[in-house]
Amino acid sequence: MPEDKPTGSQGNDLRHVCIIMDGNGRWARKRFMPRFAGHKAGLSAVRKIVSSCVEQKIEALTLFAFSSENWRRPKQEVGLLMELFATALTREVKKLDENNVQLRIIGDLSAFPEKIQTLINKAIAQTADNTGLVLNIAANYGGRWDITQAAKKMAYEVQQGRLSAEDISEETLEQYLSLKDLPEPDLFIRTGGEQRISNFILWQLAYCELYFTDILWPDFSRKEFQVAIDSFRSRQRRFGRTGEQLNNSINKNEQEQK
Ligand code: IPE
Ligand code: IPE
Ligand code: MG
Repeated sequence: MPEDKPTGSQGNDLRHVCIIMDGNGRWARKRFMPRFAGHKAGLSAVRKIVSSCVEQKIEALTLFAFSSENWRRPKQEVGLLMELFATALTREVKKLDENNVQLRIIGDLSAFPEKIQTLINKAIAQTADNTGLVLNIAANYGGRWDITQAAKKMAYEVQQGRLSAEDISEETLEQYLSLKDLPEPDLFIRTGGEQRISNFILWQLAYCELYFTDILWPDFSRKEFQVAIDSFRSRQRRFGRTGEQLNNSINKNEQEQK
């Protein structure tokens, strides 16, 4: 078994945060506004959380913006979401670049209108050399899609004779997933009160810490983000070991440092 997993009971390292940004529609409805107003307000919350991650030197932030299933929404809402995505890709990239943020978009991008695909490629190219926060926007993303596309790519490699079926391990499969070269997600946050995964990252949830809040996404502030982080830091990540094992290893480390 790998020995290199974090073992501390306090002050866990937070390298990668994943968020399901839910509750935009309800936020708007509460104000007698169209659902779209909630999506627009949600973009302001994105700015705040991105800058908080930059300040805290978190390595990666993955935001669920549009799921594989969200195409089922009314045509008008899907259209407005696409427009908002296009506007954000045009207007936000400069600031991301100035903050050394590397933007990536994960998901099945082939389903997007060509105009959006062009904007995506441009935005990705513009920030590709940045070395700070990696911001993944999950768009037309589904956890099942991700595992399926990984399996497909591996099958192709086997077919081509570049990979043998016997050699496939968890580590091999991971190399084909969308978040392949990033630290494993540590903290999963869902706003908006629902306690479900809705086909967001699946593989990586294996040992991710889950945090659910009733706060609707447009109201999710830096302060609320800090509450989630504090909750994460106070947890004991055991990765299958016992609490005693971890406490003993912490005591041992403390002794060695004295
Ligand atoms: C999440 O907010 C944003 C997207 C799925 C695009 P919702 O639009 O799902 O908001 P609620 O859940 O209806 O309040
Ligand atoms: C999940 O929210 C997807 C995003 C936030 C992008 P949904 O609002 O689509 O999830 P369900 O339908 O309530 O499960
Ligand atoms: Mg929702």
